[in-house]
Amino acid sequence: MERFAIAIDGPAGSGKSTAAKEVAKRLGMVYVDTGAMYRTVALACMKAGVATAEEAEALSVLNGIDMRIEPGQGGQRIFLDEKDVTAEIRTPEIGKGASEVAAFQKVRERLVEIQQELAREYPVVMDGRDIGTVVLPDAELKIYLDAGVEERARRRQGELREQGKTEELSAVMEKIRQRDEADKSREHSPLRMAKDAILLDSTGMSAEEVVQAILAEVKKVR
Ligand code: DC
Repeated sequence: MERFAIAIDGPAGSGKSTAAKEVAKRLGMVYVDTGAMYRTVALACMKAGVATAEEAEALSVLNGIDMRIEPGQGGQRIFLDEKDVTAEIRTPEIGKGASEVAAFQKVRERLVEIQQELAREYPVVMDGRDIGTVVLPDAELKIYLDAGVEERARRRQGELREQGKTEELSAVMEKIRQRDEADKSREHSPLRMAKDAILLDSTGMSAEEVVQAILAEVKKVR
């Protein structure tokens, strides 16, 4: 396939990764989860006993680790110092740490480089917060996937339940609001919709409906 990139941005729990993974599979493209990279930096900080809110320390951790991404149509695997940490990074604590390290410009620069390199190598469906605005400003298709906060909290609650954890809906909603606020108000590459992105509100839509809506947009540009 010739170079073709789909950027999917949006807030936590909007269904980006589920949709991006499935769209990549159906189109024979490679799914790249950029949030996993920020999560891996946060995990490395935690392992090193370094606060994720300290820029210089987080950067020195990032400079000292080996982070390897194995992209694939069925999903992406991510390795920290040769250990597969794909599952280990999916906790709310690491999500919060990821949001903190993601505020640092130098951390972002390093990870954006890796992301752009992947997009040069493969036709990608890449999800994150700044893909359409910063990482792939020339992506052929940009989707901004949003959903109401209560719906996003219910989805997160379901994911937590699958991990055997129970949390009150109100508590999950509060954390999502805080994460939205942190991601949208940070100085560097805040979460925002690219001017040329298509807004898709997935509230009340099934995962398959979201996939179909994105595939319909792909048809228009390809
Ligand atoms: O999508 P996620 O929950 O795995 O992302 C974890 C954090 O990483 C999120 O709070 C914001 C940050 N992030 C970012 O700043 N830029 C990206 N491209 C992807 C994630």
